[in-house]
Amino acid sequence: MHDRPRLWWLGPAVQGFIAGTLTPAVLWLWSTGALDGLTGADTPFFWYVSRASGITAYLLLTAAMVLGLGVFTRLFDPVAPRASSFALHEHTSWLALGFTGLHAAALLLDRSQPFGLAQVLVPFVAAYRPVPVGLGVLALYGAGLLTASFALKSWLGHRTWRTLHYLSFGIYVLATLHGLLDGSGTGQAWVQWLYLGSSATVFFLALYRTLLPPRSGAPRSGTPARDQARTAS
Ligand code: HEM
Repeated sequence: MHDRPRLWWLGPAVQGFIAGTLTPAVLWLWSTGALDGLTGADTPFFWYVSRASGITAYLLLTAAMVLGLGVFTRLFDPVAPRASSFALHEHTSWLALGFTGLHAAALLLDRSQPFGLAQVLVPFVAAYRPVPVGLGVLALYGAGLLTASFALKSWLGHRTWRTLHYLSFGIYVLATLHGLLDGSGTGQAWVQWLYLGSSATVFFLALYRTLLPPRSGAPRSGTPARDQARTAS
């Protein structure tokens, strides 16, 4: 058993804060009718839920990417112990997966589009925008596999776990293409800014990670010992 890292509570606290403030804020905006222009006044409830949770899942996926890259590049070391950033990275990944589950499950309850279980689970068979939806389904499977790997880390071994983590770039690209091509919100300026801001941040952090010179005495991809110190949980 590892000792709990200092500030271990930071991840759940930040997530509780986000969920606790975001949910009432969205409900309030909705009740004032401020979202009507965005969603269309007669759009069915579960279609709203799916779209809102899709955007939330995408933001959380972005946060998980930024945190993961931040842990690897030690970018957050001046502000938080690495074990805490890593814990936040893990919690955010689980939260992103949860919201993606809600995003897909809400489609099953929605009556405005013909989504059955097979269309939600099997890529490229949906009647509604089959290719973009298929990319989302693939992203969901990748995210499920990768997030589950946090729980299976000791069984997988550190090197395999790290190699598996390269999947995250593919998942992020799939989810971005899916949102861009599939979303009814893509025509809205704020949604376009959201995709642009997210992609630019992830791209530059990934570039920074790639260009980072290997630290003295250690290869860039890290020895198991150094990696374990980096991601101690
Ligand atoms: C990591 C996985 C996923 C992420 C991050 C994600 C994210 C998003 C985002 C951001 C949108 C745009 C919402 C809007 O513009 O209003 C969207 C739309 C959509 N997603 Fe996903 N999604 C994922 C997986 C899935 C899965 C597994 C399905 C299941 C079939 C799915 C079905 C849809 C559908 C039907 C839309 C279109 C909604 C519309 O027309 O506005 N997505 N998704």
